[in-house]
Amino acid sequence: MSALTDKPAVLVARRAPEAVLQRLQASFEVDYHDGELPLPPAELQARLHGKAGAYITGTERITAALLDACPALRVVCTMSVGYNHIDLAACTARGVLVTNTPDVLTESTADFGFALLMATARRMSEGERLLRDGGWKSWAWDFLAGSEVHGTTLGILGMGRIGQAIARRGHFGFGMPVIYHNRSRLPVDTEAELGARYVSKETLLREADHLVLVLPYSAEAHHCIAAPELALMKPTATLVNVARGGIVDEDALALALRERRIAAAGLDVFEGEPRVNPALLTLPNVVLTPHIASATLPTRRAMAGLAADNLIAALTGGKPPTPLNP
Ligand code: DGY
Repeated sequence: MSALTDKPAVLVARRAPEAVLQRLQASFEVDYHDGELPLPPAELQARLHGKAGAYITGTERITAALLDACPALRVVCTMSVGYNHIDLAACTARGVLVTNTPDVLTESTADFGFALLMATARRMSEGERLLRDGGWKSWAWDFLAGSEVHGTTLGILGMGRIGQAIARRGHFGFGMPVIYHNRSRLPVDTEAELGARYVSKETLLREADHLVLVLPYSAEAHHCIAAPELALMKPTATLVNVARGGIVDEDALALALRERRIAAAGLDVFEGEPRVNPALLTLPNVVLTPHIASATLPTRRAMAGLAADNLIAALTGGKPPTPLNP
């Protein structure tokens, strides 16, 4: 509780939509960081000290050391579906509830994943750069000729909600046979609905014309696309990552792209973001976007609202809608 009011004290660590902030302020004593950039880790910890709740995004790391320094913390609500920035086991061990924002971003993230696939296969960024630089001289039969999308094989690594939404776009919109690999196989009727075939990771790498990474990041997933995996892919294949940067060994990818061992890549996430591996920045056959797959205003408002619902429920005796730990 705040010393001045009987409301629980919380930190809202990043900017939130005004309406959401007002809801939080009605329930809590809010310490609001409305700066452009995330708080440095030491300041995050200092401002979380004595707070019962943390309203964060994917840019704030919640570690065991931070939890030990902030023993009043009872709930961490992240405005993201991914939660690899939170030590969930450490939270659970200390009785700290963690929530995320699944579902509300599935369709817009899938839209973006498919858009990135299209932009990558059809060389859109390369074409725009060339046009703006005055390099467009004439039409030619092979001018900026890219890869086909419709009717080609769509590979998906990680067949959760977003993977399935991308599969749906490929199957129904573009007549693509879909192959996928996942920790567990989907029910057969879901596979039939999506026109999706479960394959080994090796088959996925070998057969996909376009491979989209949508798996959650974990120690197991770290660099699970590296030189050996890239070597299995078709030289005409494209790779799209809308999951987490650490899934891909970026040095190995840059080399494969430079040597045209795969055709192109579309990346929305990076291992050291917002820093981008310089080896990727100079390559023509890679489309780079700044982690914006869920960035539409309606979706971001829904994510912010759901994170607030979670925080309010958790600290006012209700049942948070989307908990990650019991
Ligand atoms: C998520 O929700 O995990 C997206 O990557 C946005 O942070």
